[in-house]
Amino acid sequence: MNLSEMSKEQLISFKNETEALYNDFKAQGLCLNMSRGNPCKEQLDLSLDMLNVFDDGKFMSESGNDVRNYGLLDGIPEAKEFFSDMIGVNNDEIIIFGNSSLNAMYFAVQLAYNKGVLGGTPWSQSGKLKFLCPVPGYDRHFKVTEFFGFEMINIPMTPTGPDMDMIEKLVAEDDSIKGIWCVPQYSNPQGISYSDETVKRFAALKPAAKDFRIFWDNAYCIHHLTESPKPILNILDEAKKVGNEDIVYIFGSTSKITFPGAGVAVMGASKRNIDDLKKALGISIISYDKMNQFRHVKYFGTFANMCEHMKKHMNIIAPKFKLVCDVLKKEIAPLGIGSWTEPEGGYFISFDAMNGCAKRIVQLCSEAGVTLTGAGATFPYGIDPDDKNIRIAPTYPPIEDLAKALELFVICVKLASAEKMLSE
Ligand SMILES: Cc1ncc(COP(=O)(O)O)c(C=O)c1O
Repeated sequence: MNLSEMSKEQLISFKNETEALYNDFKAQGLCLNMSRGNPCKEQLDLSLDMLNVFDDGKFMSESGNDVRNYGLLDGIPEAKEFFSDMIGVNNDEIIIFGNSSLNAMYFAVQLAYNKGVLGGTPWSQSGKLKFLCPVPGYDRHFKVTEFFGFEMINIPMTPTGPDMDMIEKLVAEDDSIKGIWCVPQYSNPQGISYSDETVKRFAALKPAAKDFRIFWDNAYCIHHLTESPKPILNILDEAKKVGNEDIVYIFGSTSKITFPGAGVAVMGASKRNIDDLKKALGISIISYDKMNQFRHVKYFGTFANMCEHMKKHMNIIAPKFKLVCDVLKKEIAPLGIGSWTEPEGGYFISFDAMNGCAKRIVQLCSEAGVTLTGAGATFPYGIDPDDKNIRIAPTYPPIEDLAKALELFVICVKLASAEKMLSE
């Protein structure tokens, strides 16, 4: 029965029964974590053989450089060739960074802030600064722009991507808006992939600020959960078609392909943008970890092989996503107290509770030993105006632990919802 159709007496007995179940759980002293999107141990084990690729003693890259030595600031040619396929750019439109794409994003924001974009006025000297943030979104993106003092503007997500009408209007009118965070394929946390129309409208944006940049974080570009994934359009190609190729910075990494923390991160952009970024990069570093770049290229050989490798990840994590959706469908749907996404890729499921319940659900879970991503984390400044969104990260725990954590999660959703309804 839908909770909203219950009489007060029915609601009180529902709450009492749920509370008793909750207290039983609390007594079990659980200690489970569903907070961050980490690969599980079996996933990390998939790439272990990569550590042996130098057993052949071959360290020379195609360019005649010994990868153990200094040199090649923007990456070894083999890595540029390999990763340009991953993010859909040409070999001269890419920089191979270190182990973190978040770090590359931070670098790009910091450089624009301190030195400007393509010789323009540094953002730090441009007065008020604003950044567009599709919500719910990735907390660490928001932390970067918060750190640099941007006012962050929430942009609602739709099933085809962020609200483009709103974005087009805002950027055309306000030159203090310097950029937007985007996760175009399997967005974090909803798993939404941008439609062709959305990508084309992004590529054709005409912002008042000439130094506006789209931060196109394609972190989950090959992280599918189905056998027949739908591709998204290539934004740099679309931007070139309309003479707007400088508008986008593309990011990606192998953090959730090989090893988070020991993968390879990349950035793609127009040649003009890349050349400008490289000038500054060369001040801060001589070269990144080329042994790791070469290790990745030697291990996979081709980009197609790396895509095949992702199927092994899919086989490990897809059952976990299915379990979450099955439990929610069985336990929450009939009560009408929540909605959620069923992503075809990426790392998260986005759960929307009744308004005003997310913080309470996270608190109840935490007090019974299950850690979730903090309520509000998916919004700038950690403020979810409706207090309803919770990011579920199902990949890390073993499936038995996940099942246990979900059992508790649905009890907490029920309890928080009943409490809320009784208080109104
Ligand atoms: C959308 C998104 N971008 C970037 C990252 C971090 O990437 P990296 O490990 O390359 O810094 C994450 C990690 O969860 C993510 O969800």
